[in-house]
Amino acid sequence: MNNSSLRVLISDQAIAARVAELGKQISADYPDGDLVLVGILKGAFIFVADLARSIQRPVRMDFMGISSYGKGKTTSGEVKVTKDLDASIEGANVIIVEDIVDTGVTLSYLIGLLHNRKPRSIRIAALLDKPERRLRPVQVAYTGFTIPDEFVVGYGLDYAEDYRGLKDVCVLYDSAA
Ligand code: IMP
Repeated sequence: MNNSSLRVLISDQAIAARVAELGKQISADYPDGDLVLVGILKGAFIFVADLARSIQRPVRMDFMGISSYGKGKTTSGEVKVTKDLDASIEGANVIIVEDIVDTGVTLSYLIGLLHNRKPRSIRIAALLDKPERRLRPVQVAYTGFTIPDEFVVGYGLDYAEDYRGLKDVCVLYDSAA
């Protein structure tokens, strides 16, 4: 951590404005029916909390714990469910709420897993998208910001469990990486 430095990429005000827009869009897209937000732990915990409060209709919340990164900056390519949903999603409209889509490995795995549980529909909301790094195609219905191929932290995103509490999304430069 000694050689790390941070540069603000997306300010907390810009995030708040964009999350409000996404909330409006989702409210309009789902006028009725059960809507379940599935927050992916841990990175999406702040995004899902803000998004839920900007959606102007009732939502249910559930969470899945996924680990694919370990302690480094590159994905291990292996996806492990560390916490499963508490409730059935059969017949419900589901929005998977993710912090960032990078290679797409995590989300393509998750979509397959949740499809088997017979929801009425599944869409993805991701605060950030790094399309340059994509290895698996994933369709993101609600994207907050498209960003370049840089490692970012803050607003829930971490590096080895640090920086999640930063208000802004920041690029992390680490000479040891
Ligand atoms: P993917 O499976 O490669 O798309 O990786 C998705 C997961 O990797 C995200 O949910 C994040 O937890 C993590 N991740 C990818 N890029 C970053 C980053 O720039 N900062 C922090 N975590 C990241």
